[in-house]
Amino acid sequence: MTTTPPDSAPEPEPSSTPSGRRRLLPGGTRLAEILGAAGHTLVSAVADLIDNSISAQATEIHITFGQPNGGHGRWMTIRDNGVGMSAEELDEALRIGGAADYGPRSLGKFGFGLKGASWSQARRFKVITRQAGGSIRHLGWDSDDMANFEVDETPLDAWEREVADPKERGTVVLWKDMKAPMVAPAARGVPPFVAEIQDLSRHLGLVFHRFLDGDARGRPPLKIWVQGTEVESNGPASHPLTEHYDAKTLKVEHPGGTAEVRVEPILLPHEDELRDYHGEGWQAAADKIGYWGKRNETQGLFLYRNDRLIRWGGWHDMWATMDEKRKLARVILDIPPALDEAFNIDISKQRVQLPAFLQKQIKPLAETVRKASLAKFGRRPAPPPAPPVPPAAPGPGGPGGPAPSPGPGGPPPSGGPSPNPSPPSAPPPPTPQVVFRRVTSTKFAWQLVEGLTGERTLQVSGLSPALGELADAVASDPVAREALVAFLEDLDRVDAQQALIDDAAGA
Ligand SMILES: Nc1ncnc2c1ncn2[C@@H]1O[C@H](COP(=O)(O)OP(=O)(O)O)[C@@H](O)[C@H]1O
Ligand SMILES: [Mg+2]
Repeated sequence: MTTTPPDSAPEPEPSSTPSGRRRLLPGGTRLAEILGAAGHTLVSAVADLIDNSISAQATEIHITFGQPNGGHGRWMTIRDNGVGMSAEELDEALRIGGAADYGPRSLGKFGFGLKGASWSQARRFKVITRQAGGSIRHLGWDSDDMANFEVDETPLDAWEREVADPKERGTVVLWKDMKAPMVAPAARGVPPFVAEIQDLSRHLGLVFHRFLDGDARGRPPLKIWVQGTEVESNGPASHPLTEHYDAKTLKVEHPGGTAEVRVEPILLPHEDELRDYHGEGWQAAADKIGYWGKRNETQGLFLYRNDRLIRWGGWHDMWATMDEKRKLARVILDIPPALDEAFNIDISKQRVQLPAFLQKQIKPLAETVRKASLAKFGRRPAPPPAPPVPPAAPGPGGPGGPAPSPGPGGPPPSGGPSPNPSPPSAPPPPTPQVVFRRVTSTKFAWQLVEGLTGERTLQVSGLSPALGELADAVASDPVAREALVAFLEDLDRVDAQQALIDDAAGA
């Protein structure tokens, strides 16, 4: 973060009023910084602005970054073709905690999004807007010049007029003096600027996939371009081989009445199915549905509020571990804004807490796809006498791709999840030897972690001291080691570990 110049002295406060009260303005610069610290990333901040654009009935959104050495510092624009704003609406939009009416389908919430999102990324921002047939208006905030809460109405510079032109109608938000990119390039040789653009595109393709696909209720299809390239939608069920399980509607009582939460478990195709389906291009398809190396961590719940994805991945409090073999399981959850409070949705719409009673109802539905995922990986065959040689060749996944599937005992040839796949008859390809490691965690008693190149580590926590002792005792015997791992995997199949964790937590 850049150093903060102190607020220039505000106008002297009137010493007192007839009512015995006196105005005490907040420190503007600090306030801007506080509002900008609400937990946004570049992606979530841009998404917050896109929420506004969607609420303003935009169908096209263009996101443009200034070239790193273009001479105007780091800037970007988010331009929409929505209805634009009147002068009064523009004032209200820039007001911190501005008033607004929110319909039940609105993506807005606190009258804070535009300001908080902008200040999270930029020290200065301007909003340039035009209603159809009207003139161009603009207004901005400069967080270094906030002493008297005076908005910036100074005429736009020539370059600003050029990059922030709302065309016939719509609104442009211009962020200036932006923070440095936070995205670490995924691959060597990719400049941070390019990595950031790619990361943004991919996230928006996920977060707004229903809008991009024309699946958002009551909304026309949306198009988004980042740096001139159209964003491709990529929802959790985007692959045609995804299996959809029966959706259930859960009723939730809240102070204002009853609301409905829709729960739909889905199962992703196994990598072998992708190979059969795509042939040579399977890896690209696997990367896409696995969100480029995040397949394991994106197992779990995908939560939507008014069709906008607000959280994805993880099993919340239902299961603590992200077991590699359950990575094909996802559960789609639609929650209405009436439940914002029940779900404890925060100001940046990033934090969500699933009420415990709902988790209890979702758990058995999620368990069906978790089991189906496990079944697709099949039972690991009884351990072959492990050759006392170093790890075998890496798995089929190329470098940088998602973690390869554990391979041996792959899924049934094709089609649906089979609850009881029979063990394969052919001998499995050699599996890299497993390494034991003691770790500190209260979230699991054991966890089998598979690395990018197929190497496997069994992590053992102190949750079950007996397991720790057993692991130590067999650590030097490769056959015993594999047998222990296979046994623990059997236990995982029936969720024995969860009972142990619950037990430890309750103790
Ligand atoms: N792109 C836009 N087009 C039209 N109006 C907008 C746009 N962005 C913001 N506004 C207006 O500014 C208001 C404040 O936006 P914001 O600070 O994000 O809070 P919220 O979305 O919670 O109301 C919105 O309610 C809307 O009236
Ligand atoms: Mg908003």
